[in-house]
Amino acid sequence: MKEGDLPVRGGKVTAYVYDTGRPGVHEAAARAYAEMLEVNCLDPTAFPSIVEMEKQVVGAVADLLGGGHGVFTSGGTESIMLAVKAARDARPVAGRPRIVLPVTAHPAFHKAAHYLGLDVVPTPVDPETFRADPAAIAAAIDDDTVLVVASAPSYPQGVIDPVAEIAAAAARRGVLCHVDACVGGWLLPWLREAGAEVPAFDLSVPGVTSLSCDLHKFGYAPKGASVVLFADPALRRRAYYASAAWPGYTVINATVQSSRTAGPLGGAWATLQALGREGYLRLGRDTLEAARRLRRGVGAIPGLRVLGEPDSSLVSVAGSAEVDVFVLSDEARRRGWFLQPQLSYAGIPANLHITVTGATLDGVEELLKVIEDSALAARERGPVRLPEGLVEAVAGLDLESLDDAAFAGLAAAAGVSIGAGGEDGAAPEMATVNAVLDALPASVREAVLVRFLSVMYS
Ligand SMILES: Cc1ncc(COP(=O)(O)O)c(C=O)c1O
Repeated sequence: MKEGDLPVRGGKVTAYVYDTGRPGVHEAAARAYAEMLEVNCLDPTAFPSIVEMEKQVVGAVADLLGGGHGVFTSGGTESIMLAVKAARDARPVAGRPRIVLPVTAHPAFHKAAHYLGLDVVPTPVDPETFRADPAAIAAAIDDDTVLVVASAPSYPQGVIDPVAEIAAAAARRGVLCHVDACVGGWLLPWLREAGAEVPAFDLSVPGVTSLSCDLHKFGYAPKGASVVLFADPALRRRAYYASAAWPGYTVINATVQSSRTAGPLGGAWATLQALGREGYLRLGRDTLEAARRLRRGVGAIPGLRVLGEPDSSLVSVAGSAEVDVFVLSDEARRRGWFLQPQLSYAGIPANLHITVTGATLDGVEELLKVIEDSALAARERGPVRLPEGLVEAVAGLDLESLDDAAFAGLAAAAGVSIGAGGEDGAAPEMATVNAVLDALPASVREAVLVRFLSVMYS
């Protein structure tokens, strides 16, 4: 079944996976994961090891990021969900509670708002730097705002929002401020030590009241590992949930899940031990060097440009009229590399996202060659040409009246086969799908994506 999967090691997949290039570290994590696999976090009094292990892991994150009181969660989305719940419950407002965020903030905030009954108020980012605009955020805060968000860095262009100014604007209005450091929390301090200029972004910044940091990203831990920190233990209590409203066992949950394996906690704990300060610092140095070389190299390829000046190791590459990034991505995939397409949004052009990790350095010249060759091939093929009227037809579809089979049939008629892989194990051609999505408004994209997923699983 795994034959068609992208490789999780080796640095050729520049999103989703985080390889240290040190197999021993991942093996140690897997052993600890297996050791804790059957332990259930449902009842910490029954398994004291999880309390001790969690205190050590959360403590390490707090030590690095300005203190605070934390919860170990399954990922960035769950950390953000808990921060939003805490904010909602800490400060009841007269109207429907609102989150003010930059358009570049991760959709986990939209998802949390959707699940928890809040509204999202998006604010624009600077069109050149892609950083959040503190004045726009300050102006958007009103009496129903319960949370303001800054990213360190934001995923799309890898830039750090002006955290101090945003947190100050929130504090002036007595509103909580969350820093989404899911990507940067366990990366930026090492980059700073390796010589990068990294502004203060953590809980030591006045006005920052919570922060998320994913250990399954630049902590290099197996998936299912993130920490959310709260400046104040009273705020952390707002993230917790207890129920005694039934005749069964008492429910006390620090996270969204109730029964939950302690495997990821064991995996994260072991990864922190196995890499240690020196290991992370070395990975940080390699990451920084790889990101610099990549930015310089991409800048020299005709028809491509790096968007903004990434402060971290996430690099976003835009194309041009001649070089279509969606075609480039398919070409790279054919050559065994995955470059993640990002759709245009809020005035930011379509681009390719590359997450540089510690393992990228060894292959950075090969990566640049692949990008150059793929750009050349994309230039020769030309941009995706969508059949006339296709976008309008998709936008006008009454999806409610179509079942999944009918949707799949329409997609096939338009030349799009919905599935995980291409024919006969060939790399899938996604350029047309991406081009169609790119031409649609976000709400239609969302409806189509839900359909796409449903068809994939039917
Ligand atoms: C900035 C940021 N926040 C939150 C998340 C969500 O994290 P997860 O996929 O672990 O839920 C991501 C994921 O890429 C991210 O980049």
